[in-house]
Amino acid sequence: MGLQNLQVLLRETPTGLPDTAHFSCVTTPLPAVGEGQVLIRNIWLSLDPYMRGQISGRHLSGRVQPGELLLGETLGIVAQSNHSAFQPGDLVRTMGGWQRYCVKRADEISVLPLDVKHAPHMLSILGMPGLTAYAGLIWQAQPQPGDTVVVAAATGTVGSVIVQLAKQLGCRVVGIAGGAEKCHYAITELGADICLDRHQPDLADALVDACPKGINIYFDLVGGPILELASKQLAIGARVILCGLISDYNRVDNTPPVGPSPVYWILARATVYGLVVYDYEQRREEFVQACLPLVNSGKLKIKEHIVYGLANAAAGFIDLLNGNSFGKVLVKIE
Ligand SMILES: NC(=O)c1ccc[n+]([C@@H]2O[C@H](COP(=O)([O-])OP(=O)(O)OC[C@H]3O[C@@H](n4cnc5c(N)ncnc54)[C@H](OP(=O)(O)O)[C@@H]3O)[C@@H](O)[C@H]2O)c1
Repeated sequence: MGLQNLQVLLRETPTGLPDTAHFSCVTTPLPAVGEGQVLIRNIWLSLDPYMRGQISGRHLSGRVQPGELLLGETLGIVAQSNHSAFQPGDLVRTMGGWQRYCVKRADEISVLPLDVKHAPHMLSILGMPGLTAYAGLIWQAQPQPGDTVVVAAATGTVGSVIVQLAKQLGCRVVGIAGGAEKCHYAITELGADICLDRHQPDLADALVDACPKGINIYFDLVGGPILELASKQLAIGARVILCGLISDYNRVDNTPPVGPSPVYWILARATVYGLVVYDYEQRREEFVQACLPLVNSGKLKIKEHIVYGLANAAAGFIDLLNGNSFGKVLVKIE
């Protein structure tokens, strides 16, 4: 075909926050397309916090070693097919990795639902992050009208879905986000009742003031000091969804993070759920059917933070880790 692949590899395992020198962007030969396999030209790559765990060997999906391709979910177009279920030109979702081309088996590829108006939504609000928000909020926490729901990283991918769904269910939503611009967006665009800046020095007092009857649902995407603050303010019968620890992902050593005292959960008679989105893969279709009409009618939306070109993917990933991104981080592969 005369085409070459472009790939982003892990050059060196970072200690602490990565920098772009830990990654390398290289040209490689196109992989061979075997019997029953499909060649896909990746168009969109999703960047997600779990990738930091993969490169430090702390994520349940496995480890990326120096010299290896970074992993990730992609949307792409079938370029060549040796399988009757796929035709050149089909738009598909797969774990294509940080590269322009990938070769996959048919059982590793999903065709996009026809009624999706904006394909990248299948990597965000209608994809894995959206399913995470839906599973934790709807299936685990089971919000009731009037519940006070608190979520940090409120304008991130998972957080912004939680804020919008909780509001639509009649909850009072207190977001926490990094900076005035994000807080303004959480209130005016996502519908949060209040949004606190995680950098404000009086965050603890502000959270007390924002939740005068305590917190009924704390959806934890960040861990660390904010999990501690929220745990101290739980209402009786609270539900705590332990989902992510982004404040901890750049930890230098390998000792597990120290969490809040369980005494707060005992006093609140809280129910604490651990959430792993992979457990809900069989219910993905149910989630898509519930949320697709909301997305198509504009009732559920997502801000996108687009990075152009694989050569800029590492910088985009670092922005995601340190809070410099705003919205769902996607790489447009050129
Ligand atoms: N358990 C699961 O199956 C599962 C599935 C998907 C995602 N997750 C987790 O859910 C969390 C959110 O994922 P996402 O895809 O929504 O990420 P995202 O859109 O990339 O948002 C990440 C946001 O986290 C915030 N943040 C960064 N450092 C922080 C810190 N030290 N303290 C507090 N907030 C910090 C930043 O927002 P601000 O600057 O606005 O605070 C950043 O923009 C991550 O922890 C992720 O690992 C878990």
